[in-house]
Amino acid sequence: MTTADSATPRVRDFYNRFPYPPDPLQDGPPPGYNWRWCYATAYSHCTGRAPDPHQPLRILDAGCGSGVSSDYLAHLNPAAQVTALDISPQALAVAQERLRRSGGEQRIRFHCVSLLEAPSLGRFQLINSVGVLHHMGDPAAGLGALAMALAEGGILHLFLYGDGGRWEIHRTQHALRLLGIQVDGTGVQFARQLIARLPEHNRIRQRHQQRWALDTVNDAAFADMYLHPQETSYTLERLFQLVEGCGLEFLGFSNPRSWQLDALLQGEALERARALPDRQQWQLVEALDTDISHFEFFLGKPPLPAHTWSSDEDLWAATAQLNPCLWGWPGSRLLGPDLEPVDLDQEDVSLLKAIDEAPSQPLRHLADPAGGRSEQGLGEQVRALWRRRLVLLRPTIH
Ligand SMILES: C[S@@+](CC[C@H](N)C(=O)[O-])C[C@H]1O[C@@H](n2cnc3c(N)ncnc32)[C@H](O)[C@@H]1O
Repeated sequence: MTTADSATPRVRDFYNRFPYPPDPLQDGPPPGYNWRWCYATAYSHCTGRAPDPHQPLRILDAGCGSGVSSDYLAHLNPAAQVTALDISPQALAVAQERLRRSGGEQRIRFHCVSLLEAPSLGRFQLINSVGVLHHMGDPAAGLGALAMALAEGGILHLFLYGDGGRWEIHRTQHALRLLGIQVDGTGVQFARQLIARLPEHNRIRQRHQQRWALDTVNDAAFADMYLHPQETSYTLERLFQLVEGCGLEFLGFSNPRSWQLDALLQGEALERARALPDRQQWQLVEALDTDISHFEFFLGKPPLPAHTWSSDEDLWAATAQLNPCLWGWPGSRLLGPDLEPVDLDQEDVSLLKAIDEAPSQPLRHLADPAGGRSEQGLGEQVRALWRRRLVLLRPTIH
């Protein structure tokens, strides 16, 4: 196997100078959660069911940068052994210090290697690789290596740039290259001034102000956006070509709300759109939503289950647990996995309490006809909580 990517030397230099993300270091665990980095919640999103809690769990953060995602992975998955790798020693040094200060360093091992070497580090049930493959000379080879390192039944979370919503970034990058602007602190100041001094009605200047100015206050973030030496971005069509070559299964977007047709269409247009195959529905969203600047999604290595919990027998025999990615429990006003407000009625609060107190009880035992909770009613209530991602369900037989 090749262990060097053509872009590695210049990409390593870039991130040694500008470790990313530039988030400040903090003492103690990272705030809140990101459900994509919580294995139980992510696995349930992909398959409909919670994973087997007795299975040893290995997680890889491939291209961990300054370690923000690694920190969440270590804290949101306390039973896991986490491995993080990156080609930039400077980014890794920040990541190591971040984990030391957060108290997560015992749960993680760092490696200064290319993700092309991931298969030599073993097999992983969850691989996270956010914002990395599109900085390789050969992203398909990178994806192939991650696919090889994924355990059977494992899931891979990827984030790749999308073409449509980055036109202003690509034009600015091109202009800066034509001007021979260097990739260093001076270059960053030059580029900031160039954008700020474009005519007031120039659409690049406007888009920068509206969409990116806040994200690029920090110089490393600005450089990552406008001065990167190696970047590929995708249309959906090219994305699926990439995915089809790697032997993994597409399990869905990890930001499904961005792909909702009813946020864009109404009436007959919506009806016609809903009759299309999934991929064409997404292409329609890509065509109509000019803000789609990235694709984030899960791939899986078969065999993977797909639970819909339509059978009452399966449901009553299942066990349930509260989604670990909730904020405000116990209570009736929560924040959900995407930090969206969730209001619970008294019946839901009482069922969630029962689940929380006896997570290993088959659901059938939570029926309480005397208290007004029949088996039938329980089934519908649990399905609704599962659809709202407030509970995860696990079959009794794995
Ligand atoms: C945009 S940063 C993303 C960091 C982190 N994944 C995040 O999203 O917070 C990209 C990171 O990928 C790393 N990288 C690029 N090519 C790589 C490769 N072939 N192998 C491992 N890491 C790589 C870079 O050094 C950099 O730290």
